[in-house]
Formats: sequence, structure tokens, C-alpha cells
Amino acid sequence: MVGIFGCILKDGNAAPVVHEALKRLEYRGYDSVGEATIHEGKLYVKKDQGKIDDVHALHNLDDLPGRIGLGHIRWATHGAPMQVNAHPHLDCGGQVAVVQNGIIENYAEIKGELEELGHVFKSKTDTEVVPHLIEEKLRKGLSFIEAVRETLNRLEGSFAVAVIYVKDSDKIICAQKENSLTIGLSENAVYCSSDIPTFLPMTKKTVLVENGELVILSDKDYEIRNFADWSQVVREPKIIDWVPEVAVKEGFPHFMLKEIHVQPACLKRTTRLQEEYLDLMAAFLDRAKELFLVACGTSYHACLAASYMFSKMAFLSTHPVYASEFIEQVGKSVNIDSTILALSQSGETVDTLAAVDYARGRAATILGLTNVVGSTLTRVSRVYICQQAGPEIGVAATKTFTAQLSVLAQLALKLAEKRGKVSHVEIEHFKAKLRQIPDITEKIVQTQGEKVKQIAKKYRDKPYFLFFGRGISSAVALEGTLKLLETNQIPSMACSSGEMKDGVVNLVQPGYPMIFICPKDDTYKKVYADIMEMKARGASVIAIIEEGDEQIKALADDYIEVMKDVPEFLCPIQCIIPLQLFAYYMAVERGLDPDRPRHLTKAVTVK
Ligand code: AGP
Repeated sequence: MVGIFGCILKDGNAAPVVHEALKRLEYRGYDSVGEATIHEGKLYVKKDQGKIDDVHALHNLDDLPGRIGLGHIRWATHGAPMQVNAHPHLDCGGQVAVVQNGIIENYAEIKGELEELGHVFKSKTDTEVVPHLIEEKLRKGLSFIEAVRETLNRLEGSFAVAVIYVKDSDKIICAQKENSLTIGLSENAVYCSSDIPTFLPMTKKTVLVENGELVILSDKDYEIRNFADWSQVVREPKIIDWVPEVAVKEGFPHFMLKEIHVQPACLKRTTRLQEEYLDLMAAFLDRAKELFLVACGTSYHACLAASYMFSKMAFLSTHPVYASEFIEQVGKSVNIDSTILALSQSGETVDTLAAVDYARGRAATILGLTNVVGSTLTRVSRVYICQQAGPEIGVAATKTFTAQLSVLAQLALKLAEKRGKVSHVEIEHFKAKLRQIPDITEKIVQTQGEKVKQIAKKYRDKPYFLFFGRGISSAVALEGTLKLLETNQIPSMACSSGEMKDGVVNLVQPGYPMIFICPKDDTYKKVYADIMEMKARGASVIAIIEEGDEQIKALADDYIEVMKDVPEFLCPIQCIIPLQLFAYYMAVERGLDPDRPRHLTKAVTVK
């Protein structure tokens, strides 16, 4: 996730306005920054790797001439954070500048075609195809607007772009496909931005740009068109009355709640990973003689879930290991035949990196899954995949967990296909279900929030909780516990309900709160029996059930519904959402700030 911004002022220089706006967008990404302006028929660009203040100290981002400008703040997805990969990107002639947020899925194909026509690319980004394609169309005699429109119609993926052109220097053309883009209008300027808060100090008058729309912005006006059929869209501006602090959270009271709610959009991005990365990683996994899944905290829970996915779908057995235990537990057995798949949202967790370092020292193959391109993990991995969740601000991992699960599920599917372990019909069915995951999670987020809030109200004074699941859901139980521990400091624990009789059963008293995760998979009957047993001892059961599961509804004290007919390997993605919401609403009910748990930091980078 990155942020884009553009403005046309009636008077004065755009660069300081762009610079200020980018500072407000910094929460969306912060590995590189760049600006472009046009003045007297010439394009001016400043960009570099680094945080905005550091780049400004080096290059003075306020010092570019011209009243029209674009800006970009980057969180790398294609190409490492380096000056050459920072936006804006230009065409060969240095006349078209483009900033983009999102992913252009068919960039490799377009790039190949343009290179054959003599275009020279400087970066490793997907974005750079856009200015070159526009240039190609301009060369053929198309107007600026036509060239942008034709270019947009060629792009696949999900994106928001803004473009300026030296020979038509009184306009910005911006557009979005399945990505956020808003327009701001004031007496003295017009703006386009990835979000409303960016221009809120300048104006509250905004127009939302919808999917598939292109906007021609001039200092006087804005014209919206559908870029596929060129039909005109009439949309009146609205007045936004958010205060800036609320606006960054897009109207949500906390980042944690916002990040729970943006999961469907993140999952849409994550389910559009480039096939070649998945293929490459799957090839390494397939060859692995011995595979360790290594991580800490939430990322470890994703490893645990992956161990079930890989085994059940691709018949690949793995060893999920806590990074902090890796050297002690298995270190001496690691050798040239070992493969380590390390998971780390931040890519900087010290224990994960120590495990990786140790394994590298013993000639093992290192694969990485992270949310931060350019992090240490990406630098030490033979192959890595970026999970495309965008920066996560809440300390409690939410959207990055479901994004990890989605990547791992895709890898399991690839591997199953490669190994011929699942029939063609099943593969196609699973792929279709994977594509539905953003909608499935959207439905849960939209329909279950209020119910979870009421349950949190009811249980807010309970001094402890137990979480149970079986099979792949035992990873969900562990993650649910971690969310509650992090945000509420309530003693709680999780275990496979198969282990209940080995001790936990001793804790049960009337009213003891127990949360069971009960998808209708192979474990369902056993979980049902486990609940019966706990109910017989007076426990209060909150069950996460599939829609319409009357059997458990009749047994449980409270229930939250997820969608039915979701395959087992995808179920953790939907089942964790009610537990994230539960932890969130419990914190709110108990007067705690879920975004700032005491004693915790986002990434544990020191021992
Ligand atoms: C999860 O909510 C926590 N923030 C924490 O457990 C985290 O998952 C762990 O520290 C690992 O972080 P990483 O994924 O950045 O390596």
C-alpha cells in the first residue's frame, strides 16, 4: 500500500503543498518518497529512498517550480526500496510523470512489448509501464486524455494512478480500478489523493472516485468519465466533517478496528499475487527434503495453520517451530538439505532473523514471507513473497495475519497442483473459493460486528478465557488468545480441544468462558462432543460456527456465524475475524486502548 497525491494551484508553487500532503500520507508507507512538477514546459522530479524527513533534508522537497504537482509515498511491492524504484516514474522522453498505488498484473507482458519498440526501463516497478505506454500512444498522435484512457484500458489489476504531461500542463488525469482515490476542491486549488485526510486541512469539499472512473482535473473544474465506455459521470461534491485524527482512521475510532475492516480489500490484493513468485516458491517447497516453518507470535500461528494446509493438500509434512526455540530445538539437525520458510510481517523480528542466520550458516535454503519489501528478511532469503497487506499500525496483527494465511493457502494449492495430489476439478473449485474470500470476509466484518460487541459486553468482567479448536482451527484458537492477551491483558490460553482432558478440564466451573472454533470439517463431530462435555460441567460456551449450524446453536450460550461451504484450508481466514473483533470490543468495553497495549511493540527487534 502506498499513497498518491496531486494538486493544481491557481497561484504559487505546488511542491510545498505536495510535501505537506505526503507527510499526512506517511502512515500508508514510508520506504521512499518522490515529487514531480511542471514549469514552463519542463518536468522537475525529486525522489529517493528513505523516510520523508530524511529525503527532504537531502533534496529539499519544497524546491521544485510550478503550480501543478504529483507526489508519492512508497511501500515497496515490486522492486526494492531504491531511488530508481521510487515514484514518480517517467517515459523515455521525460515528458510524462506517473504515480501509482496498487498492482498492475500484466506489467511484464506490456514491458516486453514496449522494450521491443525501443523503450528503455530504469526501474523494477510495475508502474513504469504506464508512462511508457502513454508515451507510445502519444507518439501515435493521440491526445493526452485519449492516450491515458487507452493505457488504462490495457492495464489489469487493481490500481489508482495520477498522470501529468508537459505538453498539456494544466491538467492532472487520475483514475482508479478497485483502489481508493478522492478529489478535493477548494477556491484556490484542486487535489487528488489516495485518501481524504491528506487534503482535509485545505478543504472539506470532496468527490469520491469510483471503480473504473477517470477524472480530468483542471484548476477550474473536474470531469469524471468511465474509462471503459467513456460515459460521463455526474457526481456532486460532498462536505466531509471529519477532524483530521479521525480521518486518518477513515472514520474508525481505532486503527485496530480499521485494519480488521480493511481485510477484504487486503485479501483482494493478496489473492492477486504474481503467479511466477508463487511458482518459484512452490518449486523450492516441492524440492525440500525437510521443511521448517519458522516465526514468532502471530506469524508463528500462520506457520502452524500452514503445516495443516501443506500436509492435507500437498502431502508435504513440515515442522512449525517458534523462532526463539529454533536453534535449541532443531538447530543441530539443520543442513544443506533443510529448507526454512521464515514468516515475519515486519521482516525484522530479531529471533526470526537469528534462526535464519543460523540456518544460513549451515547452508540451508531460506525462503521468506513478509509484508515489508526491503526488510532484512527479504535480503537474506533466496526467494521471498510480499504479502501485500500494506503498513499495519495497530500493534495487534490482524490484516497481516489473514494476508499471510492467504499466501500460504495459495502456496499449498500450487504445491498440491504441482504434486498431482488434488484432482483438477477440486483445484478449480478451490481457486474459485479463494477468489471469493474477500467477499466472504466482507460479509463477516459487516454482519457480525454488532453481535460480537454484545457478546463482549456480556463477558467483559470475566477474569480468564479458554480457546479451543481442533485440526487447523487450533492455530486460530492460539491466535484468538494472543489477540485477547495483547489488547486486554486477560489471562487466557488455547489448546487443541483434543488435549482438554489432559488437564484443562480441571479448571472448569459453572460460568467458565470457553470459546470453541467449530467449522464443519473433519473435526466437527469431535468438537461437538468436546462442547457437550464442557457444557455438562457448567462452562459458558461461545461458539464460532458455520451459518445455519443449528446443532451447536442449541448447545452454545452464544454463537457467532461465519460462512458455510468454505474449504478447510481457507477457514482460518474467516474464523479469526470474529476473534479479532472480540478482542477489540473487549478492550473498548473495558476502557483500554486496543492500539496501544502496554509493554508491547509492533516488532521485537532487540533481544
Ligand atoms: C501480533 O499481534 C504481535 N504483534 C506479535 O506477536 C508479532 O506477530 C510477532 O512479534 C512477530 O512479528 P513479525 O511477524 O513482524 O515477525
